[in-house]
Amino acid sequence: MLKKIMKWTGRALLVVILLVLGYYTKAYIAVENRRSKVYAVKPLKLDIPTDSATLALGKRLVTTKGCNDCHAKDLGGRTIFEQNGVGRLVARNLTKGKGGLPKDYSTEDWVRAIRHGVQHDGTPLIYMPAGDYNQLSDTDLKAVIAYCSQVPPVDRENLPSEIGVGATILADLGELDLFEAEKIDHNAALPMATREDVTADFGKYVSQVCTHCHQPNMKGKPGEHGTPDISSTGRSAHWTDEQFFNSLRTGKRPDGTELKEPMPWRMTAAFSDTEMRALRLYLKSI
Ligand code: HEC
Ligand code: HEC
Repeated sequence: MLKKIMKWTGRALLVVILLVLGYYTKAYIAVENRRSKVYAVKPLKLDIPTDSATLALGKRLVTTKGCNDCHAKDLGGRTIFEQNGVGRLVARNLTKGKGGLPKDYSTEDWVRAIRHGVQHDGTPLIYMPAGDYNQLSDTDLKAVIAYCSQVPPVDRENLPSEIGVGATILADLGELDLFEAEKIDHNAALPMATREDVTADFGKYVSQVCTHCHQPNMKGKPGEHGTPDISSTGRSAHWTDEQFFNSLRTGKRPDGTELKEPMPWRMTAAFSDTEMRALRLYLKSI
């Protein structure tokens, strides 16, 4: 009798193992197909100015758009996330140093990466939030490229990004957005017109960098690794303007609690007064 039970338990276990392997194989192939998909994007041709006003704007944007949150202050790149069995996310070295961008990295390559989330060979970049930058104005995009192209070289040979078992499963289940290129309409009219002013329109422009975490409608994402609602229905809508600006500048809510990682408050701390006020106007309007 015992022998029989063991035999059946063994068989049941085998079936479970085969099912798991079967699912994983399916997930692996699906994610691998997404990773190797070639996007035929036509990057805009831009002339990159090098005057000091443009470089100053670029320097500011690299902070206010979050680039150096991921690519490090010196733009030499860093590992953003690494866990055994899950994977490794590495923001690349964007300088001309050892381990940096190739010598012949062109303006089109920059545009392809920033606006489309796609690399030179047409395959998608992993975890680079190009969806947030797709609507960057030409002026801002040029300034970012101008500034990044002339930063001092940093010799840092980062390990490559790696999609491990955990990340493969999460990506397959739609719990982890690895390829922003998938979400972007690569032929959309570019970009939306924006005048730097305290208007909801300009606020919407500023809020582009919030969308990959707080969602395009700013209602946030529920769950353990989610984000709060920061639209007119969120609790931050009840803060005074000053409290709201203060929170985004100091990383502390009005009640003294901290805005925890990954909320990039060092990025929002660099927002100008106009950017803050416009952002507030927009968030309260939706
Ligand atoms: C959330 C983190 C994050 C932010 C914010 C971010 N990046 Fe990235 N970026 C990445 C990652 C990760 C990669 C590498 C992707 C890979 O390995 O496939 C990358 C790749 C790139 C590349 C491609 C380099 C190459 O080899 O082709 C460029 C260019 C780039 N980023 C520029 C920027 C700029 C400019 C900004 C700000 C406007 C920015 N990134 C903001 C994470 C980020
Ligand atoms: C990389 C992801 C990420 C990005 C990008 C991001 N946030 Fe957040 N944000 C978070 C997380 C996570 C929290 C919750 C932090 C906590 O629980 O302490 C948060 C919290 C907040 C809060 C506090 C809300 C509350 O009810 O307590 C505000 C306000 C906020 N974010 C505004 C913004 C704005 C405005 C932007 C864009 C300019 C932005 N965030 C970009 C992840 C992000």
